[in-house]
Amino acid sequence: MSSKVVCVTGGSGCIGSWLVHLLLDRGYTVHATVKDLKDENETKHLEALEGAETRLRLFQIDLLDYNSITAAVKGCAGVFHLASPCIVDRVYDPQKELLDPAIKGTVNVLTAAKEAGRIAGLTLNIASKRSYGIPYQKLWLRKRAWEFAKEKGLDVVVVNPGTVMGPVISPRLNASMLMLLRILQGCTETYENFFMGSVHFKDVALAHILVYENKSATGRHLCVEAISRYGDLVAKVAELYPEYKVPRLPRDTQPGLLRAKDGSKKLIDLGLEFIPMEQIIRDGVESLKSKGFIS
Ligand SMILES: NC(=O)c1ccc[n+]([C@@H]2O[C@H](COP(=O)([O-])OP(=O)(O)OC[C@H]3O[C@@H](n4cnc5c(N)ncnc54)[C@H](OP(=O)(O)O)[C@@H]3O)[C@@H](O)[C@H]2O)c1
Repeated sequence: MSSKVVCVTGGSGCIGSWLVHLLLDRGYTVHATVKDLKDENETKHLEALEGAETRLRLFQIDLLDYNSITAAVKGCAGVFHLASPCIVDRVYDPQKELLDPAIKGTVNVLTAAKEAGRIAGLTLNIASKRSYGIPYQKLWLRKRAWEFAKEKGLDVVVVNPGTVMGPVISPRLNASMLMLLRILQGCTETYENFFMGSVHFKDVALAHILVYENKSATGRHLCVEAISRYGDLVAKVAELYPEYKVPRLPRDTQPGLLRAKDGSKKLIDLGLEFIPMEQIIRDGVESLKSKGFIS
């Protein structure tokens, strides 16, 4: 089995498509999963990537359908598990919309990936601000995944990104880019329960590759350009883009969160040089403009 053949679940998503892009650039053959092969919003941007013609294979999976996952990971030396619902808006049936695909889906991917080598980038995160019990379930998911991996003797390494923004490859926006769009539109939400810093799409993709390739990398890797408060991000957007209706928020939106420049020390030690917040914002806003989400 070649270590240069890997699977990216959720390859069609905003982080997934950046990861597929960087893996193809590095000569990998990539099995990328999408939810619906017939939906061009999930496939076209991936097929247009350099190297895709010869080294990209697309697979349709449903996280709750184990057999669809085994077909995608077959022949792969590593699995990057990114597929998961990630929603900032209200969900009406958290069990069905978030927890089942995230928890059962992760167990399915871990089981199917047992045959593969390293499982990297298990970005275990289910986000929905207004669905009750999610923080508890998130912890449960992380704990259970570790226990499961240990029981089965799996080689799992985790990247935990903050709020991921920057230039979007896919035609659809993920939850964090929607958050940036809403800041520009004047939204006063403060996301106090889960904001802990921002990070560029490219750095999250690079972090996944770094932890996959460095066999010395173990455990969890916080992935943020700095630990910061949501108010810091909003103030910077207001400074850079005064022409938009950016809200004036207090800077201490997460009073308990200590600001730290080197919060992602494990990844910095592996050689990752994080793109600063100002550039993340500029790349994100310019991408929203060029794709017509904002004028
Ligand atoms: N964005 C952030 O700031 C952030 C921060 C921390 C962690 N994360 C985690 O990073 C991962 C990727 O997030 P993202 O921001 O790139 O979100 P995204 O653009 O919404 O991508 C999510 C991906 O998961 C796939 N997916 C969702 N439900 C699925 C299901 N039931 N079966 C199969 N595939 C399914 C989606 O397929 P479709 O395209 O077909 O819908 C998509 O490819 C998620 O695990 C998310 O929780 C994101």
